[in-house]
Amino acid sequence: MIKNKVTLNFIQKYTPILNDFLKTSLPTSITNSQLSASMQYSVFAGGKRLRPLLLLAMVKTTETKVNLNTVQVAASLELLHTYSLIHDDLPAMDNDDLRRGVPTNHKKYGEALAILAGDGLLTLAFEWLATTKYNSQITSQLTQALAHAAGPAGMVAGQASDVLGEKEQLTFEQLKKLHKQKTGALITYTAEAAGIITNSDSETQKNLKMFAENFGLAFQIFDDLEDVLGTEKMMGKAVHKDAGEHKNTYPGIRGLAQTKRDLIQCVSNCQSALIKLQDSGVSIELLQGFLEYFQLNEEEK
Ligand code: IPE
Ligand code: IPE
Ligand code: MG
Ligand code: MG
Ligand code: MG
Repeated sequence: MIKNKVTLNFIQKYTPILNDFLKTSLPTSITNSQLSASMQYSVFAGGKRLRPLLLLAMVKTTETKVNLNTVQVAASLELLHTYSLIHDDLPAMDNDDLRRGVPTNHKKYGEALAILAGDGLLTLAFEWLATTKYNSQITSQLTQALAHAAGPAGMVAGQASDVLGEKEQLTFEQLKKLHKQKTGALITYTAEAAGIITNSDSETQKNLKMFAENFGLAFQIFDDLEDVLGTEKMMGKAVHKDAGEHKNTYPGIRGLAQTKRDLIQCVSNCQSALIKLQDSGVSIELLQGFLEYFQLNEEEK
């Protein structure tokens, strides 16, 4: 739970702005009413909006004003992330019935429409990215960065290793790579996008990226941990599933105690990146607050 006032205020300010943008823009972008219902169902089922919020927070941290174009870039990332969840839950992938506290897309609309809702969200993400008022250089850099992060060298590669890995036990190095790809790549993109939008100096971009890479790995380690320690109610999705599905996870390969230490190490790497960022004169409290997400509660410690 995030308690830091600066971060909490930021989340409380920008979550409704992101949701309003999605509410206004999504329905007008879809022409088939059932497809529209299916796409909107998953986008508005809830979700923390963590990736778009991180992107906006990084832009803010470099003392650049967040405007409607920035919000559109952030919202496009949420579309892409939601697509990844719909496909991740399909029977052929993780076969899950609950997501964001409600039945998964295919449970509600059937597999065909769920696949198409995912396809629709993925492609629409790039249309939104291509239609901001940023200049063509920024637009092209953002497009390339998102495609690279989400595609077959990033998230899709990680998802492939994840499902193929159910048949074998990976080494720790292979597992770390898998997590960096399936979850880390999209979170690292938040730093790349912020760097492109704000045209920050290379040192700032490097430190933001180091923060985001470690945040991304921490995020999947925490997700693996919560599958073991968390509850369905808290997570809005089924827990205690990974082991039964023969998933390669941190608790499975490192053991519970070492996984907690690995998480602490990643968070500490995030802190180090922020300290370096602070040396260049920016305020890091906003990003620091996001690290509170990784705190385990008393029973989980
Ligand atoms: C879930 O992501 C998928 C993982 C990478 C573990 P989130 O935990 O950000 O899911 P929502 O968007 O809040 O539903
Ligand atoms: C992350 O892995 C999935 C994506 C990259 C979409 P998981 O399969 O562990 O995510 P959850 O636990 O279903 O949210
Ligand atoms: Mg999965
Ligand atoms: Mg899953
Ligand atoms: Mg998981």
